Amino acid sequence: MSDAVAIVLAAGKSKRMKSDLPKVLHPACGRPIVEYVLDAARQAGASKIVLVVGHQAELVQKSLAHHSDVQFALQTEQLGTGHAVMCTRELLGTHTGPLLILAGDTPLLQGPSLGGLLKVLKDEQAACVVGTARTENNAGLGRIVRDDKGAFLRIVEQRDATPEEQQITEINTGCFAFDGPALFAALDQVRPENAQGEYYLTDCAEILRKMGKKVLAACTLDIQEAMGVNTQEQLAEVEAVMRSR
Ligand code: UD1
Ligand code: CA
Repeated sequence: MSDAVAIVLAAGKSKRMKSDLPKVLHPACGRPIVEYVLDAARQAGASKIVLVVGHQAELVQKSLAHHSDVQFALQTEQLGTGHAVMCTRELLGTHTGPLLILAGDTPLLQGPSLGGLLKVLKDEQAACVVGTARTENNAGLGRIVRDDKGAFLRIVEQRDATPEEQQITEINTGCFAFDGPALFAALDQVRPENAQGEYYLTDCAEILRKMGKKVLAACTLDIQEAMGVNTQEQLAEVEAVMRSR
């Protein structure tokens, strides 16, 4: 798994934190939250990490410059999670191994769960493995749509979901394992045709399935570790979990 590279998305604005400090630099138990994500990626076997920066990019980059295994890709305009990954093409477009994609604001992620995604990708020779979790608190999260045999069909964002799809309790954690070349081929086909007018990374899973590639959704994470920090309250919750660990 040593050929795996991680992409960590950290370009988005963080209005709801009500703070001038970029979200990913907020400390939890004394360290910027993004550093926990970097640790989890390393533990999962990533030999290199590409951090996508945008909002206050210079400050984020300066604060993390001492991580010698981290490179930076700039997303000048935040046009969506798929667009954020497109911004790594210059650095990773020729990478032939697996890619692990994570969000920079999820500091409770556990290395072994992420390693599990890479293992499924390899063992099943899949093009994409979507990291899912089960929760009744699915508000705002992407839902995992499966067919009646349980096979993965697509991820639908809450805003684009039918009332029936909104009931689905298996959600997208935002963590993915992709075959590198397959991901960049899929990104070429992503269009911003959705309620937010954004380029969604989540569409790549369905695009690859339609290309005839193997796409799986694996429940290797638990909902707690996938928790994102969007508000000061959530930051406090995350710190409480870290302390109890
Ligand atoms: C995303 C997923 C959703 C999933 C959820 C899990 C998509 C379309 N949706 O939704 O299915 O359940 O995460 O938390 O991917 N970012 C950038 N550049 C951008 C946009 C986002 O770097 O242009 C970064 C953000 O900084 C953040 C991460 O990507 O770290 C996720 O973005 P966010 O806007 O929070 O996605 P959600 O709407 O929560
Ligand atoms: Ca989020």
